[in-house]
Amino acid sequence: MLSFTGKVYFIFPLHTDSEVSARKKTFTEVQAEGLEQAQKTVLISYPTGISKKNILQYVSRHGKINSHFFYEGHGPHAMVEFSEKESIYSLQDVAQIADCSSVPGIPLKSRLFTLTPRQSLSQALDETSVHNYQHPTIPIEDLVQKLCCADSISNQLYSLLNEYQLTEENIKLRFLACSLIQDIARAYFPECVVKPFGSSVNSFGKLGCDLDMFLDLDEIGKSSTPKKTGPFQVEYHIKRMPSLRTATQRILSVIGDCIANFSPGCTHVQKILDARCPLMRFFHQPTGFQCDLTANNRVALRSSELLYIYGNLDSRVRALVFAIRCWARTHGITSSTSGPWITNFSLTMMILFFLQNRKPPILPTLAELKNLADAEDEHIIGGHDCTFVSNPNKINQTENTETLDVLLNEFFEYFGNFDFSSKSINICEGKEHNKPEPSPLYIQNPFERALNISANVNQNQLDRFVALARECAWLLQQVDQDHGRDSKQPWGLAALLVPLIKISKKKMGTRTLASARIKVLLNSLRANSANKKGERAFSSWSLK
Ligand code: GTP
Ligand code: MG
Repeated sequence: MLSFTGKVYFIFPLHTDSEVSARKKTFTEVQAEGLEQAQKTVLISYPTGISKKNILQYVSRHGKINSHFFYEGHGPHAMVEFSEKESIYSLQDVAQIADCSSVPGIPLKSRLFTLTPRQSLSQALDETSVHNYQHPTIPIEDLVQKLCCADSISNQLYSLLNEYQLTEENIKLRFLACSLIQDIARAYFPECVVKPFGSSVNSFGKLGCDLDMFLDLDEIGKSSTPKKTGPFQVEYHIKRMPSLRTATQRILSVIGDCIANFSPGCTHVQKILDARCPLMRFFHQPTGFQCDLTANNRVALRSSELLYIYGNLDSRVRALVFAIRCWARTHGITSSTSGPWITNFSLTMMILFFLQNRKPPILPTLAELKNLADAEDEHIIGGHDCTFVSNPNKINQTENTETLDVLLNEFFEYFGNFDFSSKSINICEGKEHNKPEPSPLYIQNPFERALNISANVNQNQLDRFVALARECAWLLQQVDQDHGRDSKQPWGLAALLVPLIKISKKKMGTRTLASARIKVLLNSLRANSANKKGERAFSSWSLK
């Protein structure tokens, strides 16, 4: 039996099975540090052709620069983090508001600046050293080629992780985008905080993933410590609302209007207030992020912390999650739009559940993490117990030594044969239970336990997942026989990322897995005709 009470090494980023660097930051520390740095940061756009050295020289007149980087977003940009906030005021002091009578616009002093040279520029382009890191994910064909050069499936998974995980710069930019939106929201709520959550900070973010933002109004009361007020208690008047949901919708609606009308660089603003979790969606042009702003969504922030802890407990977790998420996206198991598809969040829960079920377990159950919690870890949100240990140093490392080669194959075997028709998945106890209702896929919400996070998934999508899982388990089992003999063909993880029909024709006997493929075809025909009849299912999360 494993006891999760000893020491663990916090590892991030991860490169190989053996490369371990100690890191013990809690999620709260990472959030606080990221937001603090972001508040000292400005974003500067400038015309192509100006030397970066000149930009830095000029900006450093306003204060010591802590860190900086250049990138190609909507034109060339520099992100500059000062050592002191005062340096921003100094830059703002010299910045002019464009003449609104000639260029209609709304005057606003923000932390987004444009530098325009007073004299005419030499035309020598300076593009080479600007890293275009915003869209650096390598195309899948190149990734497949790269993976083929690795010497084991484990190293293929680590290689994919290194290619796709968020870079330090990308994460800084995400905190900065939150901080810029916070500046706008503070016009109404001066002490509010806008925090990133979801894959931007839960350690499973892939380059290009959306930016989930949480407008936290609970910080407002926190700074005021109870003071002695004599014989009376003094309280602010507050506007009463019919429900918390209505309050959330109104707040988001107003902030959404501000973002749409006054926030420079925010475009395509959409109010999605009727969703189960109301949100404002917009594109933040200066950073290039697709953003979802929510409020009163503390449970999701807590889920992000839980995933962050799981992602950093063992070097294999993130590598496996990235590989399976990438596989799922390549084959249309997950999608960037709402619909009857398995979401990344649900898929991650399935992987965690699988890892809890290895012998010995690679990950502790949520119940075990709860047993390790201190008084300060106690979180009851909206009546739901969201308590678990937040200090990673209290969690023991697993004794399981299975390689990623084995785990990848076993994942597909496990879910290729899982009894989805009668069993549900839950990471609280790490055990299957009988399904409480007949949704095709039932994954218990770890905190709001009466909810199924995959209620949107239809039978057709689940069948596709199962058929592909079986097919991939079969393909991985061919590696030992084929690798080396037929090295021009994608192998291992690479073979799973190309259309399977291509590989299958060459490697599989025609009858092997034919039944699985026929089932997939029949189901997609069925789904097509259902769609024609107007049937639509949506993610339980984004839309009601
Ligand atoms: P990406 O697909 O990379 O964006 O992954 P993500 O984890 O950021 O997922 P998404 O943007 O859909 O959701 C953001 C966060 O909201 C997740 O990480 C969860 O914490 C939470 N979340 C998403 N879907 C659900 C759901 O169905 N139920 C609950 N309770 N929380 C959810
Ligand atoms: Mg997200």
